[in-house]
Amino acid sequence: MAKFTKVCSKTLKLTIVKDVKMAKFTKVCSKNEIEEGKGKVVEVEGKKIAVLNHNGKFFAISNTCAHMQGPIGEGECNDGKVTCPWHGWEYELESGKNTFDENIKLDTYEVKIEGGDVLVNPKPKK
Ligand code: FES
Repeated sequence: MAKFTKVCSKTLKLTIVKDVKMAKFTKVCSKNEIEEGKGKVVEVEGKKIAVLNHNGKFFAISNTCAHMQGPIGEGECNDGKVTCPWHGWEYELESGKNTFDENIKLDTYEVKIEGGDVLVNPKPKK
């Protein structure tokens, strides 16, 4: 006398699996190509992304500063932030938030290290 109740449809299950597979990491460089405190600009799926090495941890953030489109990848990292080389605006490496006005935020991306390689998921973090 077991009673079965429908809990989801096959269509829903397939949709979820498809979304998980969309996280596509792309190798962008080797770890040793980026000095401590510095960055490198890479292009993935048409997006210019700054990959930065801060205390041996790698971060990926939009390369385009919200002020006047300065190159974030040419900035320097300190205290969990990167400073735009043009006029000094600072952004938190984890969140992309501007340190003067948190309503201003750059896209950030997931980074994965595999062996000596740095991989970036070009889909912006939420
Ligand atoms: S362009 Fe980045 S601070 Fe001005």
